Amino acid sequence: EEFERGLHEHFMMKEIHEQPDAVGRVIRGRLDERFHTVHLGGLNMDAREAREIKRVKILGCGSAYYAGQMGAQFIEEVARIPADAEPASEFRYRNPVVERDTLYVAVSQSGETLDTLVAVQELKRKGGRVIGLVNAVGSSIAREVDGGVYLHAGPEVSVASTKALTNMAVGFAMLGIHLGRIRDVSPADGRRLIEGLKKLPADIAAIVAQEEELAKIAGRLAKHESLFFVGRTRGYPVAREGAQKLKEISYRHAEAYQTSELKHGPLALISPDVPSVAIVPDDELLDRNIGALHEIGARSGPLYVVTHPGVEVPDGVAAKIVVPKNEPELDPILLTIPLQIIAYYAAVALGHDVDKPRNLAKSVTVE
Ligand code: G6P
Repeated sequence: EEFERGLHEHFMMKEIHEQPDAVGRVIRGRLDERFHTVHLGGLNMDAREAREIKRVKILGCGSAYYAGQMGAQFIEEVARIPADAEPASEFRYRNPVVERDTLYVAVSQSGETLDTLVAVQELKRKGGRVIGLVNAVGSSIAREVDGGVYLHAGPEVSVASTKALTNMAVGFAMLGIHLGRIRDVSPADGRRLIEGLKKLPADIAAIVAQEEELAKIAGRLAKHESLFFVGRTRGYPVAREGAQKLKEISYRHAEAYQTSELKHGPLALISPDVPSVAIVPDDELLDRNIGALHEIGARSGPLYVVTHPGVEVPDGVAAKIVVPKNEPELDPILLTIPLQIIAYYAAVALGHDVDKPRNLAKSVTVE
């Protein structure tokens, strides 16, 4: 095991560092720079069939569900197909209406999560078209679906998912570009997004290089019993994944919230004891997000801001974490990376075994 971990103390950090290569593998051979689109040979769906899709419903559990939320946002925004994500664990029990013109997407690292597998089986029983975004080749979900996209993240050992989640988000972006380019997405937009995808490995490497600074920030955050992670639209799934990671391995209470909804309730909890990690991309919602930072600051809530170069944050923020700017639709993938590193070092600071979090399993294959 020591040999496999290489220079890293834990698999989680090894896998965080592997992300530039992992992303390189998932995009390799799939980007078409001549027609500015993405080829996904395993979908088993021709262009005519793909054009008939009226909705996309993504199903997964845990981090895969959050990756699904990122994916739904991307697909709806880029391909203009209504899309949403739902925990597979809920979907399978609520007797959902199965529609012929909906594309169902099961997303899973292991391909063995029982809740997701049973959701796929239920969909197929009722005639739904299901594809998979799966990491483990030949796994149960990969065998059950009508087609899919392998994620090529390589084996993931850490219970807290990092490189698999990143490759899921990249996989959804590729699916969104593919579906968009046979509909209304222009060659120019296709090219813009493909250039963005190609930049991701270097962008991720630049974030991982900030490890030392992020470790210090994590040490300060870990002192708090309870934290908020806030983001909106594209940033909301980022906040959810950030909160989840911290909960899983540091056992700190972390709650993700839409920044826009703070004023409708949780603002009451903001105090010097309850910091907020705020996702503030340099996009069309920047001014509103900065406004929310002032609201939190006015209640003396410590602010840890994850943002882009050139963004001016209010005076007095506890920390400003800057990630490279990519295309707005792809930014969530990069905004998530520092949160992985923060969760890791928060857990280390608190003396927890990062690779063996209490009460959790890498893959839940039972009810
Ligand atoms: C477990 C793990 C999570 C993971 C989820 C889904 O609950 O602890 O980290 O996100 O399963 O796993 P999957 O293999 O389906 O992606």
